Amino acid sequence: MKLTSRQLQDLERDGFLVLPGLFSREEVDLLRSRQERLLAETHEANIVEKNSGKVRTAMGLHLRDEAFARLVRHPRLVEPARQVRSPALYIQQVKINVKAAFTGEAWQWHYDFATHHADDGVPEPLALNLHVFLDTVTPFNGPLYFIPGSHAFPEHDAWHDTESTSYPLWVVENRAVKKLVARAASINPDRPIVQATGAPGTGLIFFDTVVHGSPGNMSPWDRSIFSLILNPVDNALTRFDRPDFKHHRDLRIVDPLDDDCLVS
Ligand code: SIN
Ligand code: MN
Repeated sequence: MKLTSRQLQDLERDGFLVLPGLFSREEVDLLRSRQERLLAETHEANIVEKNSGKVRTAMGLHLRDEAFARLVRHPRLVEPARQVRSPALYIQQVKINVKAAFTGEAWQWHYDFATHHADDGVPEPLALNLHVFLDTVTPFNGPLYFIPGSHAFPEHDAWHDTESTSYPLWVVENRAVKKLVARAASINPDRPIVQATGAPGTGLIFFDTVVHGSPGNMSPWDRSIFSLILNPVDNALTRFDRPDFKHHRDLRIVDPLDDDCLVS
């Protein structure tokens, strides 16, 4: 699957791109059935929320389940990533961010490269984050918020937040967020911040420097989102402090499978 020139332009302009209907209901149902079992496991790569003890993020899934092993090689994820970056990509990180009904906690304003660079020594902001919604994502159950165009200003200061949530993250100062939102509003007053919502199976691609976050989930609806990060092999990690499930060391190039690899 290839992105159209219009989609490529939108991605370049905004730093993110929503792809409605990327995966079918049947494909999502298969992944959801595997998710239940994976979340129930006692596993070092299941990280729980600070307050509720419910799973916040379940990582390393392609090494734990064969459906996710196929999903990380799915052409509807890998081919657009190759088109945008290069054919030589490795699997950096694979997870489901769960954000359970009533208790799912926020992800602070951040851009992923701050963490990839500071913690893993990734040289350049070339990784792509590829999401698939496994639940309906609405304005109420903790959707991702993006600041359109914020990827064009990658110099925003970041600081290491080890307190707010159970997941240490390099986050962006509020004053930088304020500036970036004002800048986005000056370009398009209707889009100072955009929330990424949609039906199960919706896809989402975003750049390593686009500023994003998501609020807590106080709704009665779960909000699970699958995330695959692919990075060019010639831009691989140079620090190895974080565990493998946060940044995999297997730098083999990911080759796409057939389009019907999940449900044939
Ligand atoms: C979220 O799951 O809401 C945040 C995901 C991300 O920061 O990539
Ligand atoms: Mn992120």
